[in-house]
Amino acid sequence: MSDEIASKWNSRYAYSGKPLPPPAAVLSRGERWLPKGENLTALDLACGRAANAQWLVARNFSVSAWDISETVVAEINSRQSASLIDATVRDVVEKPPSASSFDVIVVSKFLDRGLCGAIQAALKPGGVLFYQTFTHGLSNPDFLLCANELLSLFKGLHILEYHEPEPDSDGKADARLIARRPMHD
Ligand SMILES: C[S@@+](CC[C@H](N)C(=O)[O-])C[C@H]1O[C@@H](n2cnc3c(N)ncnc32)[C@H](O)[C@@H]1O
Repeated sequence: MSDEIASKWNSRYAYSGKPLPPPAAVLSRGERWLPKGENLTALDLACGRAANAQWLVARNFSVSAWDISETVVAEINSRQSASLIDATVRDVVEKPPSASSFDVIVVSKFLDRGLCGAIQAALKPGGVLFYQTFTHGLSNPDFLLCANELLSLFKGLHILEYHEPEPDSDGKADARLIARRPMHD
């Protein structure tokens, strides 16, 4: 199954030549919630072209970017501007992040409900999760969030911000969650 997923995404990423997209709005608009300090680590999970990772590198985080697609990871590694990103081919479902390993985790346009517990546990105490994905506008309903679903998937975290706007004129909408792991669970 994971080979099938990788090959689907490899063909989507086969040379696009497009400029890097902007980072997820949940991250750029939620900048004030980033933890402050020295030697902070961040993970861009299912990173795609790693726009989120690049934005975090520019804010002095030590950033890992993981994706199942070898094609997109090779593209990240070939970009000089991404040289500080530690980009790795990794199936995050088979190999989720370890417990208490990141100060920041960002997930955009990716949903695997079975992974949410591991994502929550992978935050260090005080670490912050930035999550943004679709509620409307995808043909596969498995990848669409239900109303308030991010809130229940991450109920062990302290919610800092949550938005779930109505669909736009194209019928698309996403939910955006910013939440912090308490210092003591
Ligand atoms: C819609 S793209 C989103 C990419 C990026 N996060 C963004 O916001 O542009 C979904 C990404 O998830 C990756 N992906 C899908 N299944 C994965 C898995 N099991 N492990 C790691 N990455 C996966 C795909 O390769 C693809 O890059």
